[in-house]
Amino acid sequence: MAGYLEGIRSIKDLPIDNQRLFLRVDFNVPLEDGKVADDTRIREALPTIRHAMERGAKVILASHLGRPKGPDAALSMEIVGARLAELLDAEVHVPEDCIGDAAKKVVLDLRAGQVCLLENLRFHAEEEQNDEGFAKELARLADVYVDDAFGAVHRAHASVHAIARLFRDRGCGFLLEREIEALGKLVLGAEKPYVAVLGGAKVSDKIAVVEALLTQVDALLIGGAMANTFLAAIGKDVKASRVEADKLALARSIVDKAHSRRVELLLPTDAVVAAGVGASSGAVVDVTAVPDGMMILDIGPRSVETFSKRFVGAKTVFWNGPMGLFERPAFANGTFGLAKAMAESGAFTVVGGGDSAAAVHAAGGDIAKQMSHISTGGGASLELIEGKRLPGIEVLRSAAE
Ligand code: 3PG
Repeated sequence: MAGYLEGIRSIKDLPIDNQRLFLRVDFNVPLEDGKVADDTRIREALPTIRHAMERGAKVILASHLGRPKGPDAALSMEIVGARLAELLDAEVHVPEDCIGDAAKKVVLDLRAGQVCLLENLRFHAEEEQNDEGFAKELARLADVYVDDAFGAVHRAHASVHAIARLFRDRGCGFLLEREIEALGKLVLGAEKPYVAVLGGAKVSDKIAVVEALLTQVDALLIGGAMANTFLAAIGKDVKASRVEADKLALARSIVDKAHSRRVELLLPTDAVVAAGVGASSGAVVDVTAVPDGMMILDIGPRSVETFSKRFVGAKTVFWNGPMGLFERPAFANGTFGLAKAMAESGAFTVVGGGDSAAAVHAAGGDIAKQMSHISTGGGASLELIEGKRLPGIEVLRSAAE
């Protein structure tokens, strides 16, 4: 999509041979017991890293991990570096800080084709402050800047924003390029019929994206806990289900807006209910007959069927947010069933990052492979869909100062 990639150079066209390359990646991955629990984001950055190594760059990787308030051993990049070294089958040096003498020494020792991974950028508060001085310290380590951290491009942080302007030679990696192309296609002219599926916990997280989608899509399917708020807003008694009481009026106005824009807005008509989130099994009921004390934890089979039918003939489908508590087998059928139907639809299919990406992978089979694009960015993909210009992308354009 020219609009989005215009003026942004690809790593392929940058003079990185034998140069020190600052490669911003998003290695903000989930950890469990001191290990990487899901390495998708690391794997997705490998083509760019390998390309840089093959061209003889001295590769300086940098990322944030979690939301630390200062140095925190539990969020050290050492953990990620160990996994990256396994995946690359190469040594990955991790200096004890991302700036200062420790970082300088490791970079100085790098030979062409070698890789280091700087310590967690967020150990310095200046990173999130987009601090010029901190950006300059980081920039001093390298000759060329490449951003491949799609998950972080909505953040105006030093390693994403302030630093890029300090390099004449700057651009994007393969992952960022792919993400911009796929998501840009949705914003700049999705082929119609265009169907969007939204789920997840809260209406409040999705207001801006719902507003934007209502101007673009032909049908909007809503599931997950956020559907409870919509059901309550149209007068259904969802009993003990999670509802955002302060968002009922908003939900109602979204329903009205959809109606006046002739966007078909579909809510679940049946649900899987149980007494609590710890339950190991659930019962299928109509949304008009949720028993006392029960909560909705997944959309029911009839809803899966109705939603799936909307994919038939669709040219574009965008999905963000699971349909239920898919981490528990008793409440996973809605999410997995819909993922399967979406994958088999033949449409251009895009899955927003975070939970939805995890759900599509958990759905098994070839479902993840059949999707046209699974984004590595959660907040970033939503902001792009909302039509916002993102700081980490805009700053890469050659015209940007
Ligand atoms: C993400 O996981 O969405 C990105 O890495 C951004 O992380 P943040 O929300 O902590 O800025």
